[in-house]
Amino acid sequence: MSENFEVKVDSKSYIPDPAYREQSFLGDYKAVYKEFIQDPDEFWSRMAKEIEWIKPWTKVLEWNHPYARWFTGGTLNITTSCLDRHVKEGRRNKLALIWRGEDGEERVYTYRQLHRDVMRFANALKKIGVQKGDRICFYMPLVPEHIIALLACARIGAIHSIVYAGFGAEALHSRIRDAEAKVVITADVGKRRGKVISLRSIVDDAVRNAPSVEKVIVLCREKCSVELYSEMEEDFYSLLEGVSADCSPEEMDAEEPLFILYTSGTTGMPKGIVHSCGGYATGVHYTAKYLFDLKENDVIWCTADTGWITGHSYIVYGPLSVGATVVITETTPDWPDPGIWWSIIEELGVTLFYTAPTAIRMFMRVGEEWPNKYNLDSLRIIGSVGEPLNPEAFEWYYRVIGKMRCPILDTWWQTETGMHMITTPLGEPMKPGFAGVPIPGIIADVVDEEGNSLPPGQGGLLVIKKPWPSMMRTVYRNDERYKKYWNQIKDYYAAGDLAVKDEDGYFMILGRADDIIIVAGHNLGTAEVESALVEHEAVAEAAVIGVPDEIKGQAVKAFVILVKGYTPSQKLVSELTYHVRMSIGPIAMPAAIEFVDTLPRTRSGKIMRRILKAKEMNMDLGDTSTLEE
Ligand code: WT7
Repeated sequence: MSENFEVKVDSKSYIPDPAYREQSFLGDYKAVYKEFIQDPDEFWSRMAKEIEWIKPWTKVLEWNHPYARWFTGGTLNITTSCLDRHVKEGRRNKLALIWRGEDGEERVYTYRQLHRDVMRFANALKKIGVQKGDRICFYMPLVPEHIIALLACARIGAIHSIVYAGFGAEALHSRIRDAEAKVVITADVGKRRGKVISLRSIVDDAVRNAPSVEKVIVLCREKCSVELYSEMEEDFYSLLEGVSADCSPEEMDAEEPLFILYTSGTTGMPKGIVHSCGGYATGVHYTAKYLFDLKENDVIWCTADTGWITGHSYIVYGPLSVGATVVITETTPDWPDPGIWWSIIEELGVTLFYTAPTAIRMFMRVGEEWPNKYNLDSLRIIGSVGEPLNPEAFEWYYRVIGKMRCPILDTWWQTETGMHMITTPLGEPMKPGFAGVPIPGIIADVVDEEGNSLPPGQGGLLVIKKPWPSMMRTVYRNDERYKKYWNQIKDYYAAGDLAVKDEDGYFMILGRADDIIIVAGHNLGTAEVESALVEHEAVAEAAVIGVPDEIKGQAVKAFVILVKGYTPSQKLVSELTYHVRMSIGPIAMPAAIEFVDTLPRTRSGKIMRRILKAKEMNMDLGDTSTLEE
């Protein structure tokens, strides 16, 4: 962690059309925030009442630091808020999902169809013995069947754990083992840049030596042989044969887990972040409705993958809970050309577009002639998430995509927070470089290591001071790691980010305070990449750091000490890069590998990545008093 530092903050701002605020669900941000502060329980109780409950709760919050229980005594099933109520309330023929494939293929589902198919798949899962509390691992491309199977898990109270289908076999294997998944759901292939990518072979590798796995369900998209490799495998559609389309929702306690999602930690195995049924459902409904302002006619396209929390909250649960139309695609932003996303917005009439700064910077580089070919008038709000939206990218996004008309919601949050926490609510001035202010329900601050609040302009650690409903409940089978979040800085939740506030209380997020590298919006632990490198027989020791990358924000640079007998070569660089790619996935591939004889270490033996980084960037080495040599 670093000490406090002065940050120059420039306060240029844009004021959106007042109609945005006047017509918004939230209304006046400051007034609502005040209501929340005056009576937090009342505020959250009002929000929770907007989703469907089976039994009402008796207490809003029981806070026993660092453990929170929200909506005690309440029971629910999130799928009734996402499906049943829309079918009942006159939205049954409304489009719930529009799926776009890379080749332009399109499939759509109304709320009624989605409801029916979710119940069918839920029954299929029951048929193969899945019960409430079982863990189901997903390793799937973004196709409608993925969403259906996911909601089916929630329907019967099984706990899903989605693994991004770009991860390699080793990463998938360790997540399957940690969660002790009983079933893995996959597809034969994913499609990317006109190529067909085998997923099933990766799953085959990953389930070896994973004794908890009883079944692998395969969705066949190509002509995959129905003769599956072993008795373990089941064909997705064959499983649906003869099952009933009626499945009553499993009654879940508000505090029971809804899902696990792995995120990189600073050391060792990624952390299985556990989210609860009641609090999570409340948080994503609240933010989808009151911050994204999703209305009856909105069409939301969040370009994330379901493998990240962004996809969980703003592709699946949030938008479906408010009854919006959700666009999902299996596309790459620049294939077959960099106009593809803008053509989809024009054709499907997307009103809320939510993407990552890395994509925006890529589009900036290829030029505004691409978006300018398309009519983007349907857009109402544009959003950003995953890493700081730098002022240049803000300006471009605002002018070229939003036409100086659409407010930008730069949303700061984390896998652990479940919902977005800091943004610029509709109607508030937008300041390029600043994500915005804590949303009603959230008390955030910038503090020093002792937890003292820092004045505007002083950089420090971002904390959340009070619990909120969609906060993670624990780290799966590792409560010690959970406790750390709340025990590092006073009794606050330590986000692990550096930030600075301005005079108006706006937060600028400066990046991670720890050894996490964010590459194109994806979290990578240095430890994860290092251990993949060290697995290679030629590598004795490795240290990785994040270096600035114009498009991806950061890229991975690795420093490697070779085992005696090996000599540096270009071939070895390629081999190590490939090795990381196969074990973690393409996002973790080092952009550069440097062979070195020693690594800077503390006296206690810890690698000082800070020193490597400072050297790499020709910066002052800072405090080196703990450096060994
Ligand atoms: C980390 C969390 C939650 C969505 C995707 C990432 C960084 C996230 C922003 C933003 C600046 C951001 C933070 C955070 N981050 N949103 N709007 N501005 N930084 O989830 O993988 O859990 O990563 O992403 O550093 O700690 P995640």
